[in-house]
Amino acid sequence: MTNPLPAWSALRTHYEQIRDEKLRDWFAPANDPAPTRAERFTYAGGGLAADFSKNRITDATLKLLVQLAHEAGVEARRDAMFKGEVVNPTEGRAALHTALRATEANAPFHAQILAERAKMAKFADAVRSGAWTGYTGKRIRHVVNIGIGGSDLGPKMVVHALQHLELPEITSHFVSNVDGADLWRTIENIDPEETLAIIVSKTFTTLETMTNARSMRDWFVKHGCPENALAKHFVGVSANPAEVVKFGIAKENVFEMWDWVGGRYSLWSAVGLSIMIAIGPQQFDELLAGAHDMDKHFREAPLEKNLPVLLGMIGIWYRNFFGSQSYLVAPYSEALHYLPSYLQQLEMESNGKSARLDGTFADYATSAITWGEPGTNGQHAFFQMLHQGTTIVPIDFIAVLTPEHPLADHHPKLLANCFAQSEALMLGRTEEEARKIAGPDKPELVPHIMFPGNRPTTTLLVEALTARSLGALIALYEHKVLVQASVWDINPFDQWGVELGKVLGKVVEADLNAASADVKAHDSSTAALIARARAALKR
Ligand code: F6P
Repeated sequence: MTNPLPAWSALRTHYEQIRDEKLRDWFAPANDPAPTRAERFTYAGGGLAADFSKNRITDATLKLLVQLAHEAGVEARRDAMFKGEVVNPTEGRAALHTALRATEANAPFHAQILAERAKMAKFADAVRSGAWTGYTGKRIRHVVNIGIGGSDLGPKMVVHALQHLELPEITSHFVSNVDGADLWRTIENIDPEETLAIIVSKTFTTLETMTNARSMRDWFVKHGCPENALAKHFVGVSANPAEVVKFGIAKENVFEMWDWVGGRYSLWSAVGLSIMIAIGPQQFDELLAGAHDMDKHFREAPLEKNLPVLLGMIGIWYRNFFGSQSYLVAPYSEALHYLPSYLQQLEMESNGKSARLDGTFADYATSAITWGEPGTNGQHAFFQMLHQGTTIVPIDFIAVLTPEHPLADHHPKLLANCFAQSEALMLGRTEEEARKIAGPDKPELVPHIMFPGNRPTTTLLVEALTARSLGALIALYEHKVLVQASVWDINPFDQWGVELGKVLGKVVEADLNAASADVKAHDSSTAALIARARAALKR
């Protein structure tokens, strides 16, 4: 695998020099008597801190990684994005999620953004106070966000994370899957007279969302809501307002986003309406402020002290030099339950590509597989493999230092587990140590209780999970993705890879419903699957 940048080849050589060195030795008093390693590799920005010291890096590694970031033009790509240049050339668009949280009056589209946010706030306040009612005059108690991908994962993740700030009178629900079970399980036990549906789709053509939106409308009507009163129960969020109106949503109930906001970067826009209703406009502003803190840090901090740059470049170190296939995000926070799935879309839909900006194909690895689960749950499921498996999986641990709940004695246990895991992964257990534990009677146990150690982890520290710190955390990962895209020389803002499946999905759907003579030719596997389904569906 090659990349033409000089720092890339220097990193190759450097990798050969340090690949067999042990983190355990780098931390040992003999090599780090003061000690300084933790301090040297801990950085802060946007109100967050990151301890990178348990990574397989030395000062020289970081220097070379930062040099690679410079050579790859990270700063130019970053500045072009903030300025609103066309950084998504295959769709001819800017990517201005940062403008959505900018406070500077000269930021791109500032007046337009503020006007739409004011409209959102007015509506959210009316729903929260009970001034906005359903068609029978009852207050809204259930908000159902119907959307998928970026129109679902961000709002769902944030509302869950900030549940402690949620208005108790309103329950938020998120429906995304075209599997009818998703919508049905949500609506079967709620009162339509107290329900508000927010249909969120940038394009307003997405199969899953439109199918769920139509079924939701039928449900309201079936339960007695007159067609001309549906406006009390339906609002739409889209960059395609004409299509929303065509669907039957009143024009004044349409909240706009714009083509320069990518779906997976859109929770800061009107796509976040369900967030604003749940936590209120003030807290929504805090979320934006936290992201803006991280934006400022990303723009202003030198690359060698820049959190998104360091996180991104250390990811490159493992992906492209150690050959790691995946990386794990383990938030030690139940509130951040949905962060890993949110990051899966952010990272893999952005950087899971091989075409480079000039149209040639990369012959080096791009996006790692992103996965994760909250700790401590993961420890009792897949951590076995992380400790003793044959594959190295770099990990981002996320620790929230102050709990948001009153069960005080849980928190030291939670944090202890988080810190102990990274310590164990780093230290491992040598053969000698294992022998002592096995004792003279059980020497056969030794290989089973040895741990290779040297498994790299980063620990991100969040003081408390507030709207502001969450905003900063999300923006940190957004910018990390841009940093990696710059080095891989790919466009992180398009997603052509989802198209083929959508096109073929329509053909197969037609075939599932068609008269048998009209079923199209497919390969033998697909044809057999269609035949089985047609029989089950009694076509
Ligand atoms: O199919 C992928 C995708 O286009 C995502 O990029 C997007 O977030 C999601 O579908 C939903 O799209 P929309 O908001 O247009 O319904």
